[in-house]
Amino acid sequence: MQVITDICSLRQAINGLKKNGQVISLVPTMGCFHEGHLALMRYARGISDVLVISIFVNPTQFGPNEDFKAYPRNLKRDIELASEVGVDLIFAPEPEEMYPIDFLTFVSVEKLTKYLCGKSRPTHFRGVCTVVLKLFNICQPDIAVFGEKDWQQLVIIKQMVRDLNVPVQIKSYPIVRESDGLAMSSRNVYLTPEERKQASGIYQGLCLAQKLVARGVREGLALKNRLIDFYARNIPLGKIDYLELVHPYRLEPVTEVKDKTLLAVAMYVGQARLIDNILLEP
Ligand code: PAJ
Repeated sequence: MQVITDICSLRQAINGLKKNGQVISLVPTMGCFHEGHLALMRYARGISDVLVISIFVNPTQFGPNEDFKAYPRNLKRDIELASEVGVDLIFAPEPEEMYPIDFLTFVSVEKLTKYLCGKSRPTHFRGVCTVVLKLFNICQPDIAVFGEKDWQQLVIIKQMVRDLNVPVQIKSYPIVRESDGLAMSSRNVYLTPEERKQASGIYQGLCLAQKLVARGVREGLALKNRLIDFYARNIPLGKIDYLELVHPYRLEPVTEVKDKTLLAVAMYVGQARLIDNILLEP
């Protein structure tokens, strides 16, 4: 396994592999690996000849008052874990390599970035799209894998790839959870033991909504009110950022669960902003 930090050397390595006709997959990450990241890598490993991952805490996707500086980093451990999973190549650039001082170009996907996380993080997806397109151009993968935990990110990246004719196939992987249901996240390390205990309620709430839908509750407002009540009782340390029913691909708000509907939640618990989602199927 090779660890490469500069774009020029990475391009050389990739060009060599491409010449041999190998199928290259890319798993972009911000590091501090948990089982969710590793599951994406194992999946990508199984559908390609060469597995490339990137580890880069991307400054442009963090807002001015967000946790860029505090975001957990552990490159040494990440390299060990990646090697165990069978990663062939790690791209781990410094911010200056990706964003030289005279950098001026950003990629903005319209509309889809205004919903859900885009409301409280107005510049977030512009940073995500910019870095992901750069990574695609640098690594030239045939396949790239993203997690369904960041459902909106996945939908937006698929749109960007379609709109800009990027020759990469986007694959997704289901949410990997802790044994109590909490979606794995690098940000879970911010939680105190009491916050961590309560945070498992986020997924329990989503499951409750699924049960209500199975029992015939279809009205969006009724579902949301039941959930707000559940969260108030079970996660007193939490503060809901949003709780929304949306079309799974267009991300527009939905008032009634008639077809497949995404229930997405973002909640502040202590220092952490946690997101989760579930696809409701009536
Ligand atoms: P990061 O949060 O490190 O996540 C990297 C990838 O792992 C993303 O595709 C994310 O959806 C996936 N992932 C995270 N937690 C997961 C879980 N519990 N189950 C399944 N998949 C999970 O997402 C980013 O980094 C960045 O925005 C990035 C795309 C790398 C651009 O900077």
